[in-house]
Amino acid sequence: MLKLPGLIDPHVHLREPGATHKEDYDSGTASALAGGVTTVLAMPNTKPPIFDEVTLGEVLATAKTKARCDYAQYLGAGPDNAAEVARLAPTAAALKMYLDSTFGELRLDDMTLWMEHFRLWPGKTPIVTHSESRSMAAAIWMAQMFDKPIHIAHISLREEILLIKEAKRRGIKVTCEVCPHHLFLAENGIPLAPAGCFCCSDGLPGGRAEVRPRLAAKADVDALWENMAYIDCFATDHAPHTLGEKDSENPPPGFPGMETLLPLLLTAVSESRLTIDDIIQKSVINPRKIFKLPEQPETWVEVDEDARYEIRASEMHSRCGWTPFEGWQVKGRVTRVVLRGQEAYRDGKILAGPGFGQNVRA
Ligand code: DOR
Ligand code: ZN
Repeated sequence: MLKLPGLIDPHVHLREPGATHKEDYDSGTASALAGGVTTVLAMPNTKPPIFDEVTLGEVLATAKTKARCDYAQYLGAGPDNAAEVARLAPTAAALKMYLDSTFGELRLDDMTLWMEHFRLWPGKTPIVTHSESRSMAAAIWMAQMFDKPIHIAHISLREEILLIKEAKRRGIKVTCEVCPHHLFLAENGIPLAPAGCFCCSDGLPGGRAEVRPRLAAKADVDALWENMAYIDCFATDHAPHTLGEKDSENPPPGFPGMETLLPLLLTAVSESRLTIDDIIQKSVINPRKIFKLPEQPETWVEVDEDARYEIRASEMHSRCGWTPFEGWQVKGRVTRVVLRGQEAYRDGKILAGPGFGQNVRA
């Protein structure tokens, strides 16, 4: 039995409020615990978005009664809320800025709007950007100008990791995260790991491969693995949409991810592509430092390292009912999670009730 600290997932979409048929604070935090994640940072691209005192107060009131693991809620950068979100910063996970096309209404195109946020955000926690390729370069430059820490969400391209590596070498305050789907899948959902099941070697059907940033070419995926040392965090970008929605004419982008995170990473450990220390650094130590999160006393995850099994959405707790890794053969199963001294998950059963989770910014 392997014992790990409780994982921190700095990037999840819990769909609360406005799309709770996909997920809510209850099902999303149940999914977290089943994956060995004991702290989630929830994104603000909800309906309505979380972008002021009222919407933040409402979602935190809901989270207080529903969350089963610990959490903090992001604020979203909008066209005219820079002063308000800066004032609310101590009560939020961090600030999220959407600079490229995504699900929801929070995209900012005009760089003068980015500037207001970089100017006013206090900077104890980073500005997290959804910024791809050249907009990522522009965002890093702006962070440097205003001397604020920036965290690049879900990097997927070779050019992105090489630019981040160069920026770090020059002492720029930039950190980044990578998602399992950008490490284990290429364009169209082609599996890039031995664990991938042979029936999906043609990729994922139709809208199921849709995600932003898009799944990239094998050369991009290889560059992420080669530069693992410059990647600060693993983040799932858990973005549940129902199977009906994914298979529709207008499939929304996004994959669920919290219940497949550790099995995929542990399988990579068993193949000597990662180490247990990589998992602890990138899923516990670095996110805690970057996002200034408190220690969780008496909290750990028990893993059966030798358990081999097949990933099945039907055994998961997310409300979305599917996974892009269906049928993958993995090695390493989460068997038990203890959160703040209490047994929160055991052998497929969620034992922490709604409301057990605490707001780490309260
Ligand atoms: O694929 C994605 N899904 N990318 C995003 O940026 C948003 C997310 C969602 O909320 O569904
Ligand atoms: Zn996201």
